[in-house]
Amino acid sequence: MSTDETPRERVHPDAPAIEIRDLHKSFGDHEVLKGISLTVRPGEVVCVIGPSGSGKSTLLRSVNLLEEPTSGQILIEGIDILDPEVDVDRVRTRIGMVFQQFNLFPHMTVLGNLCLAQQRVLGRSRAEAEQVARDNLVKVGLADREDAYPAHLSGGQQQRVAIARSLSMNPDMMLFDEPTSALDPELVGDVLEVMRTLAHEGMTMMVVTHEMGFAREVGSRLIFMDDGLVVEEGDPREVLANPQEPRTQAFLSKVL
Ligand SMILES: Nc1ncnc2c1ncn2[C@@H]1O[C@H](COP(=O)(O)OP(=O)(O)OP(=O)(O)O)[C@@H](O)[C@H]1O
Ligand SMILES: [Mg+2]
Repeated sequence: MSTDETPRERVHPDAPAIEIRDLHKSFGDHEVLKGISLTVRPGEVVCVIGPSGSGKSTLLRSVNLLEEPTSGQILIEGIDILDPEVDVDRVRTRIGMVFQQFNLFPHMTVLGNLCLAQQRVLGRSRAEAEQVARDNLVKVGLADREDAYPAHLSGGQQQRVAIARSLSMNPDMMLFDEPTSALDPELVGDVLEVMRTLAHEGMTMMVVTHEMGFAREVGSRLIFMDDGLVVEEGDPREVLANPQEPRTQAFLSKVL
């Protein structure tokens, strides 16, 4: 049986982690993405900012086909995931996704939440899954909470469980959609710390965030989106300190 213990072949070893080419997405006659092209190389942390409704979530959701693009191309590790021949579910297991809402199963313990997809999707035994889960709980600082139910954890702890759950699938890359936006301010730091550690370990990440400090310190690149387009991108420190485009300037003057 082929399990996840088989080393994951990279079909195109030199390919970018994510390559998006001229991506368009409409809902009815509302065009939400108007031709996005961007590349994320292995180990990069690409932060995405922009006003509400600019298409950030739609872009992120398109990367693992939670949204089906209207046109354009999306290559994951060189594999064209819009090719009907490609097994999208298999590609998806390589991409972890963390949302604003944690989406933990309330009737399962932390350990149960971490084991479920490992067993169902990757075919790991319960014992294997628990071992992986425990390693990841250590990583997010929650080794002592494996028997807790989500309702007994703070929002920040729940989000760290959600991150550990994603990591337990051994993804090649992680997508974060405003992972700290639903949290009380005092809980944001612990979640960002986990993300910072992941970044330093070399995880490829795309992060939609309003945390400009995180983008500045951790981001390899910052992308400013407005109205379905990438308006400006560059080194986060430079974009934040010296935005070139009037729309970026206007946005940053409101949020910084
Ligand atoms: N399933 C959908 N059906 C119809 N319209 C949608 C759908 N999902 C998103 N939209 C619309 O697409 C546009 C972009 O939404 P999206 O959620 O990608 O923006 P965003 O940049 O993530 O905003 P926010 O900062 O508020 O999260 C919005 O106008 C939204 O109403
Ligand atoms: Mg959004």
